Amino acid sequence: MKIGVLGTGMVGETVATALVRAGHEVRMGSRTKDHPGAAAWAKGAGTRASAGTFADAASFGEVVFNCTKGEHSLEALRAAGEAAIADKVLVDVSNPLDFSKGMPPSLLVSNTDSLGEQIQRALPRSRVVKALNTVNAYLMVSPSNVPGDHNLFLCGNDPEAKRVVRGLLTESFGWKTGNVLDLGDITAARGTEQYLPLWVRLYGSLGNPNFNIRVVVGPAPTQG
Ligand SMILES: NC(=O)c1ccc[n+]([C@@H]2O[C@H](COP(=O)([O-])OP(=O)(O)OC[C@H]3O[C@@H](n4cnc5c(N)ncnc54)[C@H](OP(=O)(O)O)[C@@H]3O)[C@@H](O)[C@H]2O)c1
Repeated sequence: MKIGVLGTGMVGETVATALVRAGHEVRMGSRTKDHPGAAAWAKGAGTRASAGTFADAASFGEVVFNCTKGEHSLEALRAAGEAAIADKVLVDVSNPLDFSKGMPPSLLVSNTDSLGEQIQRALPRSRVVKALNTVNAYLMVSPSNVPGDHNLFLCGNDPEAKRVVRGLLTESFGWKTGNVLDLGDITAARGTEQYLPLWVRLYGSLGNPNFNIRVVVGPAPTQG
């Protein structure tokens, strides 16, 4: 599959590399055509890898990943072009973290809205699926870095788009399908983004970003 990865940071590079290794053709996008990090990645990642602007990567991909800094994701997607992502699956990995008041970060949007929803509203013709934003970049593409079963969440308005993303998560990144929990429509992004303040605190307590949560379900309570 042809995949556009918007973002040259740790997430963009890790996701793009894993997708190339899984056999996909990947174009990494950035604000500029000659981003040194993107050019170096494309050179080192092999013949299925290339780099360009956000717009180049978005036009190239049948599926597009948003791995840009949350506070600038809407700007980056505007630069990519609404038409270039129309009718495509857009996997939104971003978190709306606000570091303006230092650590720990707060959220730029929360409670009654989320960045995932803002992106879906900005790109009404795209099928946005929020996924992968609750784990660190290396764990996204290598779930066995944490032993045993643990969970990843996805949500979005389009069932077929979620099926495509579940396929990429399981076949290209190695997640067990039973460990990928579908939380419903894109408003569920409020919950996965609002997990970040807890994620940041867990990271502080554990001193290690290589962790995840496991949802353990007991028998349903009986009435009466
Ligand atoms: N790091 C993690 O482990 C992790 C885990 C889960 C979710 N996330 C989320 O994934 C996203 C990417 O994180 P990251 O750590 O890889 O990198 P990042 O530093 O948050 O984002 C890097 C990307 O954002 C773009 N960007 C920065 N300022 C911009 C602006 N003013 N306008 C347009 N684009 C701009 C950069 O563009 P250029 O390429 O042009 O420089 C670059 O592609 C974030 O939303 C983060 O919250 C990160």
